[in-house]
Amino acid sequence: MKIAVYPGTFDPITNGHVDIIKRSAKLFDKIIVTVAVNTQKIPLFNLTERAEMIHQVLKNEERIEVDQFDGLIAEYLKRVNASAMIRGLRAVSDFEYEFQMSLMNRKLNPDVETVFLTPAQEYIHLNSTIVKEVASFGGDVSEYVPDYVKAKLQEKFKK
Ligand code: COA
Repeated sequence: MKIAVYPGTFDPITNGHVDIIKRSAKLFDKIIVTVAVNTQKIPLFNLTERAEMIHQVLKNEERIEVDQFDGLIAEYLKRVNASAMIRGLRAVSDFEYEFQMSLMNRKLNPDVETVFLTPAQEYIHLNSTIVKEVASFGGDVSEYVPDYVKAKLQEKFKK
């Protein structure tokens, strides 16, 4: 069974992430979407909230699991027996960081390949920060996040 892991901060999951996940599911038997503790970022949603949103959004998709991890992704990939890590490449600006990360991960775990997928064109400019900014000012984010996430953003910013 070919297992791929799609790691990220997912603060929150967007339609761009969902697009990548669905594309990955065509290539692998099982996809584990895993929510990372990224020490460089102060998240709006805690780890459990982020994982719960992903779970709700993907609950009808077969062969997709949701998990969380803290530590090195290379170690996590070994633990779950993954043969690939999925990353989305949206623009040239993503390339350098992704390239560096993929080479480092290969050093740490030579058994895993990084697979880069391109999202649909309408999501190429998207990231979670811009969605949060628009939502924080009451802007409409319906095009960019699933309805469940939109409701959670509204709830968060009402507080
Ligand atoms: N659609 C929309 N947005 C997307 C996207 C897509 N398809 N793909 C990425 N993004 C956005 C994310 O929402 C995120 O936006 P933000 O910066 O506004 O929050 C941004 O692009 C970066 O995305 P993400 O894929 O979540 O990466 P990350 O940099 O937050 O996470 C980890 C990277 C968690 C995978 C990496 O830091 C890691 O592996 N950490 C564990 C520790 C470790 O092993 N470090 C060594 C690595 S070599």
